[in-house]
Amino acid sequence: MPSRPLACVILAAGEGTRMKSDIPKPLHEVCGKPMICHVLDVTAELEPERTVVVVGVGADRLREAIGDRAVTCEQPEQLGTGHATICAEPALEGFDGDVLVTYGDIPLVTRETLGGLVRRHREQGASATVLTTKVDDPTGYGRIIRDATDAVSGIVEHRDATDEQLAIREINTGIYVFEAQSLSAALQEISPDNVQGELYLTDAIGVLVAYGRPVAGMMVEDSAQTMGVNDRVQLAEAERIARDRIREHLMREGVTLIDPPSIFIDAGVTVGRDTVIGPGSHLLGETTVGERCEIRGHVTLRSATIGDGVLLRDHTTVEESSVGHESQIGPFSLIRGNSEVGAECKVGSSAEMNRSHLGDGSKMQHFSYLGDTTVGKGVNIGAGAVTCNYDGCEKHCTKIEDSAFIGSDVILIAPITIGENAYAGAGSVLTRDVAAGTLALERTEQRVVEDWHERMRKRREGLGKQ
Ligand code: UD1
Ligand code: CA
Repeated sequence: MPSRPLACVILAAGEGTRMKSDIPKPLHEVCGKPMICHVLDVTAELEPERTVVVVGVGADRLREAIGDRAVTCEQPEQLGTGHATICAEPALEGFDGDVLVTYGDIPLVTRETLGGLVRRHREQGASATVLTTKVDDPTGYGRIIRDATDAVSGIVEHRDATDEQLAIREINTGIYVFEAQSLSAALQEISPDNVQGELYLTDAIGVLVAYGRPVAGMMVEDSAQTMGVNDRVQLAEAERIARDRIREHLMREGVTLIDPPSIFIDAGVTVGRDTVIGPGSHLLGETTVGERCEIRGHVTLRSATIGDGVLLRDHTTVEESSVGHESQIGPFSLIRGNSEVGAECKVGSSAEMNRSHLGDGSKMQHFSYLGDTTVGKGVNIGAGAVTCNYDGCEKHCTKIEDSAFIGSDVILIAPITIGENAYAGAGSVLTRDVAAGTLALERTEQRVVEDWHERMRKRREGLGKQ
């Protein structure tokens, strides 16, 4: 089959009234990704020569989300799907090939389905091919009308249908492939002669049939794929289906999920094989997890990069930060603010890092905090050690060089530098730099009071006699 150029037109100008939202409908997210981006990802896989998104309500915000992934055409007033397609025509000028028309609010459609529709259209040499599906409750959808030979002869909208037509369960998904010249010819013929007074794209099918042009239909079994999201209930349903797919995909790629339904994984996440993810964990945004990691229960990763062989203990959160190979974090630890944990590090339990870097092989023990801090390699940071990076007005930086030893409960008042191989004695509050190889101690000397217990006992007895 000769390969013809493909263009994709995505209709996304509608108001989405039933979402009851200030956010344009195609920007509502499914698995952490706006619906319009799900559609753009799938159409991109078909390698179209051009992609056009028709925007209207919330056009500016939509354009921002779309970026350079498609050209946009504005439909100033929502006068129907046919009118929206006419608005895309300037962007199709000079295009000779097939035009896939779809919507910006169908996040579940797959590349296989859209690619299959394009293939079927070309195999049949059709001027238009409509994707159909059968549903139990066709209320609200356009019905597919077939003639005596079972060929598609038209689409009738629910509101314009006769009782007999309303009984038809084969519906229009709103996804079509048109031969470009046939589409523009048919769009010139449609009229707002219907109950809603709109220009229906569905009427282009009837026009082509009337002209005797070949119109084909392709039925998709899995009607969930073509489900349009109109309200928050459908949004939640789409999310549920998309999450199931992501989990199943990862399991098939060699990732173990313990209690899959309790694990939430966004569309932008990748996980390496032999990684085990525990119950209640959330992997969100553009998160990447390496191979052979152990992610225990209730871990949250948001736009995190995790190397191979990492152990993340329960209730740990990594946000917009990275963790190197073979490191161990948690339990109850928080790594955030573009922090970087090197390879073979130990962080936690209950430790926090913010805008900080921990060099390879360094350890940061329980209840410690690093803010605006650069730590070299092989450093030990004791339990409860804290950097004071904020003086109430400004943030200041701390530098801890290779192989330094920070004792437990040390308070480092930034800005401060602890040199290579230097020691900070436990319990010290340090305000000045510590030179390489030295020991800094800041404590009052220990006093010992002899016989303290005996003296206290006598005092108590004396009080008792009174
Ligand atoms: C449409 C179809 C119907 C089909 C259903 C599948 C028509 C006339 N009807 O109905 O046969 O069963 O989809 O979901 O095409 N849009 C615009 N500009 C407009 C109107 C709509 O861009 O002026 C966009 C919307 O943003 C939306 C899509 O087109 O993404 C569908 O519009 P909608 O109003 O939901 O169409 P339906 O009435 O559901
Ligand atoms: Ca709809």
